[in-house]
This record gives sequence, C-alpha cells and structure tokens, in this order.
Amino acid sequence: MQSLLRFLGSTVGAKFLMALTGVLLALFVVGHLSGNFLLYKGQDAMNDYAEMLQGLGPALWIVRLGLLAVFATHIYYGIRLKRRNAAARPVNYAHEDTIQASFASRSMILTGLVVLAFVAMHLAHFTLGWLDAEAYDLKQTVQRDGQPFERHDVFGMVVAGFHNDVFVILYAFAMVVLGLHLSHGLHSLFQTLGFRHPAYTPWIERIGRGLAWVLAVGFLSIPLAVRFGFIAAAGGGDAG
Ligand code: HEM
Repeated sequence: MQSLLRFLGSTVGAKFLMALTGVLLALFVVGHLSGNFLLYKGQDAMNDYAEMLQGLGPALWIVRLGLLAVFATHIYYGIRLKRRNAAARPVNYAHEDTIQASFASRSMILTGLVVLAFVAMHLAHFTLGWLDAEAYDLKQTVQRDGQPFERHDVFGMVVAGFHNDVFVILYAFAMVVLGLHLSHGLHSLFQTLGFRHPAYTPWIERIGRGLAWVLAVGFLSIPLAVRFGFIAAAGGGDAG
C-alpha cells in the first residue's frame, strides 16, 4: 500500500495516472460520438437511445460518478505535473524547449482548461437545460402499449439548440481545441503506457493525431449539420 502511494506520488506515477485516465476519457469520447451519430439517423433512433440510457437508472449514476472521478483525477495530476515541471525548470529556455514541441504539446494545460469549461457549459446546456430551457423542455409523444407516451426529445433539443448561432460558434471553437488537446494527448499516452519503439513512434504519433482529428471533426459536424439543415426536425421545420 505504502509503495503504491509512493508510486502515485512520483512523477512516473502521475504520468501513468494521466495516461490511464486519458484512455478512459478517450473511450467515453468515442462512445459519446457514436451515440451522437444517431442524430443523423433521426428523431426516433436518437430518442430511443437516450431513453435506453435513462432506463439504466442506478447503473447510469455509477458510470457518471466514475466518469467524474476519472475527469477530476486527470485534471488534478495534469496541473500537478505542470507545476512540478515548472518548479524543476524555473528559467524558461528561449529556444530549445519550445522549438521542438508542437503547439498542441506546449498548450496542454490551456487546451485542457478550455475543454473543462466546454464540458461545464455543455452540461448546463443539454444535461441540465439551464442555458436553453425551451429546447430542453421539448417532448416527443410515442405509442407505448397502444397508449400515447411522452418522453424527453433529445433530438429536438439538439436541433433547436444549434439553431442558435452563438452555440454553433462556441461548440465549433471547443471542438477545434478538443482536437488540439487529443492530438497531443492520444499519442503521448500510448508512449507513457509503453508503446515506444524507434520504428513505431512516428506511426503512433500519426495514428494518435489522425484519431484525434477524426473525433473532433465528427463532433464538429453535428452543430454544422444542424445549422445548414442536414439534420432537421421532423417535417423539416426550422426551430430557430
Ligand atoms: C457537438 C458535439 C456534441 C453534442 C451534439 C453532444 C450532445 C450531448 C447530449 C444531447 C447530451 C445529453 C444526453 C441526454 O440528456 O440524454 C450530452 C451529454 C454529455 N456530453 Fe455531449 N455532446 C457533444 C460533445 C461532447 C464532448 C466533446 C464531450 C466531452 C469532451 C461531451 C461530454 C458530455 C457529457 C460528460 C455528458 C453528460 C453525460 C450524462 O449525462 O451522463 N459532449 N451530450
């Protein structure tokens, strides 16, 4: 136990925890994007999926709390590593440090904090309905055992939400920043977890970067598809 705590307190341990929590967050992002792609399939597909998730009840809350703990650990150790690095190197190099590192790698804390601010805004928007109560309150009536049944219209909420250009711009900006964060994060976590070999490192970098931008562009496509009418409310109605 003592040695585990010592390991977690060390720089190597902190890097390992960053990588491990990074993998879990990346898996969440992949899962969330796959779910969001149901928006392209239509209202019923998206709302069936959202209703199924809600129906998980306590299991959903366990996953949510786990995700929160993972996110908090990732942020805590990220800031800690950054501060430790800064303390170990009080004088900023004029060149060597930055010349090699890409913009994405140098700005991990900044892009990470922007993603954190985005997630807070996003939860207030679509999970809590604080930023657009009208869209959040939309309901879809479906037939259940021959009876009309009202459920949360997640599809309608997203479509109505992205008829507001302020949200389209905020989401688009955040997705570019997420792409930058993941483009460095994904390949560096592979390396921390031991996938390191002179012959494969350039490929790992390419795959990590490629995957990051596939995810960012996938998310970015949604507000744009709504804004330009490729994803529209039933009957092609314009909610905005
Ligand atoms: C344009 C892109 C995105 C769209 C359209 C979108 C859509 C949604 C929707 C509709 C919900 C609520 C689901 C429900 O009430 O059933 C949700 C929840 C959530 N989203 Fe997103 N999302 C996007 C991007 C992201 C990104 C990039 C992240 C993380 C970096 C993220 C993290 C979350 C989290 C943590 C939740 C809460 C999950 C829960 O309630 O259990 N989303 N999103």
